[in-house]
Amino acid sequence: MKDIVFATNNAHKLEEIRQILGADYNVLGLHDIGCDEDIPETAETLEGNAEIKARWVKERYGYDCFADDTGLEVDALAGAPGVYSARYAGSAHDSAANVALLLKNLSDKDNRKARFRTVIALVRGEEMTFVDGVVEGSITRELHGSNGFGYDPVFMPDGYDVTFAEMDAEAKNAISHRGRATAKLRDLLA
Ligand code: IMP
Repeated sequence: MKDIVFATNNAHKLEEIRQILGADYNVLGLHDIGCDEDIPETAETLEGNAEIKARWVKERYGYDCFADDTGLEVDALAGAPGVYSARYAGSAHDSAANVALLLKNLSDKDNRKARFRTVIALVRGEEMTFVDGVVEGSITRELHGSNGFGYDPVFMPDGYDVTFAEMDAEAKNAISHRGRATAKLRDLLA
């Protein structure tokens, strides 16, 4: 079994990826390798931030590693909040405030088109590879549902009449940005 690091401390993401990658990989989180630093996410693109995190682990800890970054891209807001999705309403990473600001900024907009995009950077030896996953949809005018997290209560994927927050985790993962990016990572590592 090969060791590989997923540059996150999010227990839910780690559990999910361990199930997807199965028995071939021993997936370690940042905490498992003694990395308790806050890795700076200072890039202006999802690719840039994912790369910073993956390189940080490779260069300082020596492990092959992958890292992800996700953004919600809204057409009527020229792609915002994008790479700043977690801190759209400020540095507090407050999802309720982020969603409220998004709805406010879209209140006079008829074009509600948006997409979630996840980028994963994988560094193995000297090689850096990127995969991404996208789900197209639209931003609702009100919040619906209580599952999930972040912008889920206002994101309705194309072809559905419910938001991500009204879907169960399995249904969401089957079509989600992260689910699609992770499936590509699995194929890359196979
Ligand atoms: P991260 O790169 O996975 O930490 O995601 C950055 C931010 O994007 C999160 O803080 C959320 O606000 C938002 N986000 C990412 N994935 C999702 C999702 O599946 N549903 C809703 N919001 C998400």
